[in-house]
Amino acid sequence: MKLNITVLPGDGIGPEVTHEALRVLRAVAEVYGHEFSFDEQLIGGAAIEKTGSPLPPATLDSCLASDAVLLGAVGAPQFDGLAGDKRPEAGLLALRSSCGAFANLRPVVCHDATADSSPLKAEVVSGADVLIVRELLGGLYFGSPRGITNGGATREGFNTMRYDEAEVERVARVAFESALARGRKVTSVDKANVLETSRLWREVVNRVARDYPQVKLEHMYVDACAMHLMLNPRRFDVILTENLFGDILSDEAAVLAGSLGMLASASVGGGTDVYEPVHGSAPDIAGRGLANPLGAIASAALLLRHTAGLEQEAQDVEASIRAVLERGYRTADIQGRSGKYIVGTEEMGTLVAEALAEIADMRHAYHAV
Ligand code: IPM
Ligand code: MG
Repeated sequence: MKLNITVLPGDGIGPEVTHEALRVLRAVAEVYGHEFSFDEQLIGGAAIEKTGSPLPPATLDSCLASDAVLLGAVGAPQFDGLAGDKRPEAGLLALRSSCGAFANLRPVVCHDATADSSPLKAEVVSGADVLIVRELLGGLYFGSPRGITNGGATREGFNTMRYDEAEVERVARVAFESALARGRKVTSVDKANVLETSRLWREVVNRVARDYPQVKLEHMYVDACAMHLMLNPRRFDVILTENLFGDILSDEAAVLAGSLGMLASASVGGGTDVYEPVHGSAPDIAGRGLANPLGAIASAALLLRHTAGLEQEAQDVEASIRAVLERGYRTADIQGRSGKYIVGTEEMGTLVAEALAEIADMRHAYHAV
């Protein structure tokens, strides 16, 4: 299979973790005989520094012409003073919207090997396996009007949460389809006791649910969901929610996986899919080889699955991550009691790539007998 991937390392730890995801993708290409070509482009603060724009036209052109985008992270403290539409984050939001990627899939898995990396009790988190389906192109992130008023004695900041029925329906369908392939349960999360957008959201989700009688649907308020995620995460299968609620809940859910550094995401539904770890640019540890690349590597696995349809390869990358964790290798963020060896970003990436080659060898040997 031939794949053209635009690579956007971005800011902070983005370049380090992306480098390891590419190492693993190259290993996949070699082991399984695929041809992946990578076109590296600028985004975020790195792009502002070189071109003045957080999403230069050359970057967008490359992304739209590619099969998929693999992104590291955006955001850097030196740009915090810039206006909203000039900040590094604006580049990411414009990319998501230009790609039409309205559904953001964020799987959260508690691996047995790292259940003790979570500050929660192992008996609470072990076995947790949740897929958060976050609406990505609507709500407060994109709603207008928005702004800060000038004039008057006191200024006013305002944003608009706005969803139309079609926007809710398309992301709800992604959630129900995902649930069919997993635990057949959708928890739709809203704030319908207060917000009109949520009441409409609920109505549309109920309507879509009629097309999926095999899937159990429940509704939950976002505040209650935040609590139940920590109390009893195994009660969840697929969580469907709007943009900002999904942003917040997915960072919270990272506690189940031991660290934000573990989480991957796929932004799908449009012309080009975008893959990125859930973590940010982590400027405090950037450039020191400390960052956990497993979220970026797991994002590459999602790319193989969703864009390329290479299910076996995706599973093998995920199995390689598990194997490395089971052997006791940890980055600093996921130490826990069971960790035996603390390794850096590059070593972790190398270990996963090596484990992948072993797993593929084993399969060949098995088929040969
Ligand atoms: C995420 C991030 C982004 C978001 C930021 C960097 C704009 O927090 O992907 O969760 O809020 O969507
Ligand atoms: Mg976030």
